[in-house]
Amino acid sequence: MSVWRNPMKRLTIAAGAAAVLVFAASGAQAGERMFPALGKIATPEQIKAWDIDVRPDGAGAPAGSGTAAKGEPIYIEKCAACHGDFGEARGRYPVLVGGHDTLKDQRPEKTIGSYWPYASTVFDYIKRAMPFGEAQTLTDDEVYALTAFLLNMNDVIDSDFVLDASTIGKVEMPNGDKFFEDPRPDAQPVKVADLCMKDCKPEVKVIGRAKIIDVTPDKGGAKAKAAAKAAEASAPAADAAPAAAQVAAAPAGDPEAGKKVFRKCMACHNVDKAKNKIGPSLQGVMGRTAGTVDGFKYSNAFQAAKDQGLKWTDENLAAFVAKPKDFVKDKIGADKGRTRMAFAGLRKEKEIEDLIAYIKEASGE
Ligand code: HEC
Ligand code: HEC
Repeated sequence: MSVWRNPMKRLTIAAGAAAVLVFAASGAQAGERMFPALGKIATPEQIKAWDIDVRPDGAGAPAGSGTAAKGEPIYIEKCAACHGDFGEARGRYPVLVGGHDTLKDQRPEKTIGSYWPYASTVFDYIKRAMPFGEAQTLTDDEVYALTAFLLNMNDVIDSDFVLDASTIGKVEMPNGDKFFEDPRPDAQPVKVADLCMKDCKPEVKVIGRAKIIDVTPDKGGAKAKAAAKAAEASAPAADAAPAAAQVAAAPAGDPEAGKKVFRKCMACHNVDKAKNKIGPSLQGVMGRTAGTVDGFKYSNAFQAAKDQGLKWTDENLAAFVAKPKDFVKDKIGADKGRTRMAFAGLRKEKEIEDLIAYIKEASGE
C-alpha cells in the first residue's frame, strides 16, 4: 500500500507543469519565444485546465464551498466502494481515516488525518485524481464537501465548518507541525543561479562505455552473436568477471584515486619496491608472467599459472582483483579456486579502473 502514499510528489510535478505553461505563455506575450517554430501558445483556457494546484496557504483554491454534511452522501456514492463507508478502506485501497498516534509504530498508518501536513493537499489530490478511474469529474463544490467530510471524519474540523478558498489555508492538520525544513547542508535546495548550464567542463573525457560494460541486452543480431563468440574464443576468463575485465579495457582510470584503492592491497603488497610481504611484490607486475617473483612461495594455483604462461594484462588483473577466487578457478583452472591471496575482491568497476592506472604508474611500467 505504501506505493500509493505519495501525494506530495505528484503534486509538485503537476504544479511544475503548470508553472512551465504559464512561463511559456508569458514569454510569448513578451514576444520572446525561444523556439518560435515549435508548438503553439497555450490559450488561457488550457492554462486554467492545467493550473489547478492549491497551495498550503490556500493560494489557487477555486470559488465554491462545502461542509462535511454535504460531503457524506457524495462520499457514500462515489468513494465508499473503495475507501470504505468510514474511510477504513476495502481490500488494499488506501485508508483515509484514523491512524492517529501510529507514526512511531513499526507499521505506521499514514492517512490524510494522521500524516498529511496540509488540508490543501487533500483538496488538490481529490480534485486532481479521484474518484480513481474517473479523475476530474467532480465539481469544486463537491471537492470542498468531500474534503470537509474526510477532515471531519479525522476529527480535524467540525461538521458545520464551511470549507472554502478563505478557510482551507487556515485548517491545522494534526501532524502539520511535525514537518520541517531539512537543516542538513547537503539537503539544501540547489539554487538555479548556481547550476552550470554551459561549457561546464573544459575537457570531456569518456571514462566508461555502456556498450563495454554490457548493460544493454543484445540478444539476437547476428553481428552481436559473432562478436560475443569471438570474445569468448579469445578470452575465456572474461566470463569470470565480465564487467570488470571489460571496463579495464576502456581507457583512463584515475591513478590518484587508484592510490587510495591500493590501501586495500598495501598490507600484503609492495608496488614500488621489490620486497615481498605477505604477497609478492607488484613492482613491474604489468605484462609479467604470473607466479614468477623471485623468492616468493606461490600456491599451487599460481605455479600452474606460471606454467601456463598467464600474463598480467589489464584484463587479467581486472578480473583477478574483481573476484580472485573465480579467476583462479576459471582462468587458471585450479580446483576450488584456492589461492594464498585472502582477498574478497573489489566490487566497483571504477575502483578497479583507478587501481590499475595507479599500479601502472607506481609499479614502474
Ligand atoms: C475505484 C476505487 C476508488 C474510488 C472509487 C475512489 N478512490 Fe481514492 N484512491 C484509490 C486508489 C487506488 C488510490 C491510490 C492512488 C495512487 O496512489 O495512485 C486512492 C487514493 C486516494 C486518496 C489519497 C490517500 C493517501 O493517503 O494517499 C484520497 C484522499 C482519496 N483517494 C480520496 C477519494 C475520494 C474523496 C473519492 C471519491 C470521490 C475516492 N477517493 C474514490 C481508489 C479509489
Ligand atoms: C591479505 C593479503 C593480500 C591482499 C589484501 C591482497 N593480496 Fe594480492 N596476493 C596475496 C598473496 C598471498 C598472493 C599470492 C597468491 C598465491 O600464491 O596464491 C597474491 C598475489 C597477487 C597477484 C599475483 C602476483 C604474481 O606475482 O603473479 C597480484 C597481481 C595481486 N596479488 C594483486 C593484488 C591487488 C591489486 C590487491 C588489492 C586490491 C591485492 N592483491 C590484495 C596477498 C594479498
